[in-house]
Amino acid sequence: MNKDDEKHGAQPGARLRSRRWFDDPADPGMTALYIERYMNYGITREELQSGKPIIGIAQTGSDLSPCNRHHLQLASRVRDGIRDAGGIPLEFPMHPIQETGKRPTAALDRNLAYLGLVEVLHGYPIDGVVLTTGCDKTTPACLMGAATVNIPAIVLSGGPMLDGWWKGKLAGSGTVIWDARKRLAAEEIDYSQFMDMVASSAPSIGHCNTMGTALSMNSLAEALGMSLPGCAAIPAPHRERGWMAYETGRRIVGMVHENLRPSDIMTKQAFENAVVAAAALGASSNCPVHMVAIARHMGVEHSLEDWQRLGAEVPLLVDCQPAGRFLGEAFHRAGGVPAVMKELLDAGRLRGDVITVTGRTLAEDLAAVREEPDRNVVRRYDNPLKEAAGFVVLSGNLFDSAVMKISVIDEEFRKRFLSDPEHPDCFDVKAVVFEGPEDYHARLDDPALEIDERSILVIRNCGPVGYPGGAEVVNMQPPAALLKEGVTTLPTMGDGRQSGTSASPSILNVSPEAAVGGGLALLKTGDTLRIDLRQRSVNLLVPSEELEQRRSNWVPPKLDNKTPWEEIYRSMVGQNGSGACLEPAVNYLNIIELRGES
Ligand code: FES
Ligand code: MG
Repeated sequence: MNKDDEKHGAQPGARLRSRRWFDDPADPGMTALYIERYMNYGITREELQSGKPIIGIAQTGSDLSPCNRHHLQLASRVRDGIRDAGGIPLEFPMHPIQETGKRPTAALDRNLAYLGLVEVLHGYPIDGVVLTTGCDKTTPACLMGAATVNIPAIVLSGGPMLDGWWKGKLAGSGTVIWDARKRLAAEEIDYSQFMDMVASSAPSIGHCNTMGTALSMNSLAEALGMSLPGCAAIPAPHRERGWMAYETGRRIVGMVHENLRPSDIMTKQAFENAVVAAAALGASSNCPVHMVAIARHMGVEHSLEDWQRLGAEVPLLVDCQPAGRFLGEAFHRAGGVPAVMKELLDAGRLRGDVITVTGRTLAEDLAAVREEPDRNVVRRYDNPLKEAAGFVVLSGNLFDSAVMKISVIDEEFRKRFLSDPEHPDCFDVKAVVFEGPEDYHARLDDPALEIDERSILVIRNCGPVGYPGGAEVVNMQPPAALLKEGVTTLPTMGDGRQSGTSASPSILNVSPEAAVGGGLALLKTGDTLRIDLRQRSVNLLVPSEELEQRRSNWVPPKLDNKTPWEEIYRSMVGQNGSGACLEPAVNYLNIIELRGES
């Protein structure tokens, strides 16, 4: 059966793959063995053999992952929806990923959770799956797994926390800590005030309330068409979150009957739409890495070049921190992702004919958006917060690719570096090189480094292999002496990533990374770098013979693996520029080909 037959093979009554476990006339012995153990907690044989779709609920919530923990409660509304639509829910745990809690990095676990999900979806009697997403890496891990397996799948975001407040001002996740650290360094606040200030940004259940990686990736899951319209922005404690859980449970049953699968939704055009949406949202700099990874597991051609080509010129429409002012509650009240998508569709920036989990086209979904958004938060396309706000993809004599988030460059930075009338997009900086976050913290305030307002802080050995997983450390602060003088940002560059909540205009995700011999390994403190944003280049200003000399002297760093997974991960992971996937895994596409087969 070829792909087309299989799509049209979605006739009602087609045999679902779960029946191989629960109702195989050719093998009553195995059927009995499969069935008896699922019955031992009260589910009946009649239910399991009824031919109803078996729907997995991929549970990412646990005490170890507080950002997603309320999925443990939401799952009961998902179950209600599945039951009411005629399906049978089977909930199962996913490997926990907590962005702020996992050492050495949560990024290390994205591919581990992905592998686990693939194995579960492939090896158990599941006809469709609800992906519970939230904290940063949980969303790409779920979507990558659904892409590889390609059974009907739908995303249920957990939603952002309520807005945080500190002394009458909005305190956003992540964004507050950059501010609090500066205040602590400047001795404006003490330790206990510092702790209270940071905690004020987390007033309820939910994931980060800024447009960090969590809200960005959940918004992009919606932009891709993988969640019901409006899902991403509903704050976690709102009643609509429970309604959404119920509707999501209902809808996945319909998707199974229609055999509507990730490959029907996550098409090349859908990824292109998501790139445009990312720019308008002011999305996290982690998004290109994750989206390229999801696309590769889907077998869709999609690269950083698409981000440059389609995203760089798109204006910033959403006024959320870190690029803007507001947090998740305001974004939701203003209409959330559908309001942004409608604005982009009307401006001719999106393909409206892509299919979403609703089974309708994006344009049909958006036709339901009638209300005028709050224009303080979701701006009109012709009245944006910033023009050309997407990611710029850079390259040069030290690396093949890196991304820079233009939307967070502020006026002060622009004046200092981008105001030469002859070359408004080009500036030279003096490199100060750190070997990793520990070295940065140990030496930042060393006067011998002579860091001044024309320096660039460079950090290396922080990529997927180097750290391992890739540390979110590129958004480095200037030394205390410069902060006191009022220099609050320096350009930074590195082979690590940075938190999606950071407002630093860093050059990050430099690929290939230093640990695998990328050119960043050859840089020395005191070197001059020329950064040209128009040419999209970063070049080390030394003769090529000198660079070659340095290369021949380079010794690979010794990698110290603390766990078996670190060793396996490092032996198989690719670079951030190509999604930091487990390279062998990318060869497994569409692994559940047919109904009734696995
Ligand atoms: Fe989990 Fe930000 S730390 S969403
Ligand atoms: Mg992060």
